[in-house]
Amino acid sequence: MKKQTICIFGGTGFLGQSITRELANTGARIKIATRIPESAYDLKLYGDVGQIVPVMCDYNNDASVAAAVEGCDTVINLIGILFQKGKSKFKKAHIETPAKIAMACTNQQIEKFIHISALGIGKAQSKYAKSKLEGESQIKAVFPNVTILRPSVVFGPEDGFFNMFAKLASVLPALPLIGGGKTKFQPVFVGDIADAVTNIAIDHANQYAGKIYELGGPQVVSFKEIYEILLHQINRKRALITVPWGVAKMQGCVMGFLPKPLLTLDQVCSLKFDNIVNEDALKLTDLGVIPTAMDSILPQYLKCYKRGGRFAHKKATDKKAA
Ligand SMILES: NC(=O)c1ccc[n+]([C@@H]2O[C@H](COP(=O)([O-])OP(=O)(O)OC[C@H]3O[C@@H](n4cnc5c(N)ncnc54)[C@H](OP(=O)(O)O)[C@@H]3O)[C@@H](O)[C@H]2O)c1
Repeated sequence: MKKQTICIFGGTGFLGQSITRELANTGARIKIATRIPESAYDLKLYGDVGQIVPVMCDYNNDASVAAAVEGCDTVINLIGILFQKGKSKFKKAHIETPAKIAMACTNQQIEKFIHISALGIGKAQSKYAKSKLEGESQIKAVFPNVTILRPSVVFGPEDGFFNMFAKLASVLPALPLIGGGKTKFQPVFVGDIADAVTNIAIDHANQYAGKIYELGGPQVVSFKEIYEILLHQINRKRALITVPWGVAKMQGCVMGFLPKPLLTLDQVCSLKFDNIVNEDALKLTDLGVIPTAMDSILPQYLKCYKRGGRFAHKKATDKKAA
């Protein structure tokens, strides 16, 4: 493969770490465009000396964005937020900044632009979903050949989803089932997304250009089933209590004021719609990736939430043997 230069915006996050590691394995030179270069220092360990370089980016400054994409073959946008807080707004993070990056890519005739969006945004009525959808359309208007990936909820060792609920299950006697926990998800492994992005980046024929892919894992599960899988993995029994939509909305309203809310009103709105891959959509397999099952990954990183910690089973066996 020709050694590429790739710029990753938002590369310091959960998906960014896996994607950077996979791309570094191809020998690509990688710029991590970030607001805080120090937060990208750890990523340098995934490559040889000088292969992965953090680049300070000020998204209010077009020249700063242009400098980040300069000289790149591929640009990847992973910028995203789950809730609005202070100056961090959906409009800026999901629409204005991605459109600015797309414009810089067009101006500099960048060959490939890969944008990570989110699954289910066509139907969902949340501000998050609407902003993600509008972001896609503004990017397409200036860079029609963009490849858009829409993942369902993503799992992997550093994820925010399974780790958060496992932490809650470790301390709470019961877990809330919003709206009865019927909303369906198709959790997708972060490593599969990294493989998909890498396959797009290294593809000489540029066959993925201008297409949208919906990324889901091999299992469709309801929120309630996710809790059941989680509780099985961490070997704990917890009551699952239905929280009616109206009550969840009130909770979302109140929790939305916390500095890092566990739930917001907007997220309650998102939960009203299933988050699963459409039958006729292009999928992970169309990107040359076989989806990984949760069972083969979750035990690796959820075992630390078991009662007694990750060595609980060994301790119990040792006690029996003694
Ligand atoms: N994780 C999931 O389950 C999931 C599911 C569906 C879709 N997605 C999408 O996938 C993408 C990556 O997700 P992730 O889980 O890796 O997110 P993440 O861990 O929160 O990382 C996102 C990155 O975006 C940058 N960022 C955050 N707020 C920003 C702002 N206001 N302005 C500019 N940059 C900002 C940060 O980079 P710096 O601080 O270095 O600038 C951060 O590292 C996002 O677009 C997300 O919406 C994720």
